[in-house]
Amino acid sequence: MKMTVIGCGYLGATHAACMAELGHEVLGMDSDVDKVHTLNTGKAPFFERDLDDLLAKHTESGRLKFTASYQEAANFADLHFIGVGTPQQPDSDAYDLTHLFDAVTKLAPGLTRPAVVAVKSTVPVGTAPRVAELLREHAPAGGLIEVAWNPEFLRESFAVEDTLRPDRLVLGFTTQHSWAEALLRQAFGKIIESGTPTIVTDWATAELAKGAANSFLATKISFINAMAEVCEKAGANVAELADILGHDIRIGRRGMRPGLGFGGGCLPKDVRGFITRADELGAGEAAGILREADAVNTRRRRRIVDLAREELGTDLRGKRITVWGAAFKPGTDDIRDSPALAVAQALHDLGASVTITDPKALDNARKLHPELDYVEDPMAAVEDADLLLHLTEWPQFSHIDPERLAARTHSPKVIDARGTLNTDQWRDAGWITRALGRV
Ligand code: UGA
Repeated sequence: MKMTVIGCGYLGATHAACMAELGHEVLGMDSDVDKVHTLNTGKAPFFERDLDDLLAKHTESGRLKFTASYQEAANFADLHFIGVGTPQQPDSDAYDLTHLFDAVTKLAPGLTRPAVVAVKSTVPVGTAPRVAELLREHAPAGGLIEVAWNPEFLRESFAVEDTLRPDRLVLGFTTQHSWAEALLRQAFGKIIESGTPTIVTDWATAELAKGAANSFLATKISFINAMAEVCEKAGANVAELADILGHDIRIGRRGMRPGLGFGGGCLPKDVRGFITRADELGAGEAAGILREADAVNTRRRRRIVDLAREELGTDLRGKRITVWGAAFKPGTDDIRDSPALAVAQALHDLGASVTITDPKALDNARKLHPELDYVEDPMAAVEDADLLLHLTEWPQFSHIDPERLAARTHSPKVIDARGTLNTDQWRDAGWITRALGRV
């Protein structure tokens, strides 16, 4: 079966490669010609486990190609997935839908025969009718274009696995859809046949599903981080508390790791976008819980800055701080709304000299924060440091021998914001340790 994927970022490039893996003929489309060139050489323009292998395999097999031409995409297939980014607006908490509406408006003139446009981008509820209207207005095939809503639940660093083996598929349609459902069922054939729960619903429920899922995940993280605040005052240990709670299967242990809170290109902006849309719809009270989740999350970042000042004195001028971690989470080079970089920048703004190390995200971080210093080797990074902050829990960091590390620094002090360092071992090696969520 032939299909296109419009927008080849983290979501679209992965979706295109995985659709080729399922046996389809796929044309990925992105207006960034450099990105298209890189993808056509079988490489991802970002780091995502297993993705390069799939891209190389299918650009070579000929099942996967990329283009920067909307016209070529429109001609290529009758099923078009759209996975462009919907970031937060720079001056408000609402979604910026410019890329989505731009992609639909540019694809539309080439749609001269009936087609299905299946949107995967995360949006505020109520966007699907606007997409359908744009297609009616700008596509020669007008009313014969069907719109489907197919939210994506993949996690970065597990993107390929989550796309090929999702825990559910959600397909949203209007009441009048003659072949959109059939085409999507064919596209996801192998995934559906393997027993993946497939929920067919209306547009609004499908749109809400994504925002609600991310809002729930964010709230779960903020819940345990709120408990961390209480643990710090009560002399309790939040890691053990999370473990105890997690044994109750109604609570579950996954997605409830305490620490520096959530970041990335999705959870923070989806929580804020959801609140904004709920307010617009007159359901602002229902979003109160999300306002609190967002506030707890922001407080975690401030807490690390406060702890650093407790250790080094309120005046940070002339102090040298090393930060382990720049990516918003391990396993990715994505630094969008990275808690680690937010803390690093805040410390720099207070006068500290900040040196950062990260296994994958240094180039991206350097571009966005040129005023900070960067070192590749996490051992070398602590030389001259007055304080070490562990802010992104790459496994590489927890494998470092604290005794060898202590020999490299004149001031063995560490704050573990992610709870994955064995602080008993670090203390035995001579380090003064502090951690979030315990005394
Ligand atoms: C998130 C959702 O998990 C996906 O289901 C969703 O599809 C995706 O957003 C999206 O909207 O595209 P992702 O941002 O890749 O995926 O990362 P997560 O693994 O959910 O982590 C998000 C943030 O929460 C990270 O900063 C992570 O460090 C933090 N986190 C996660 C915690 O602090 N504790 C946890 O227990 C889990």
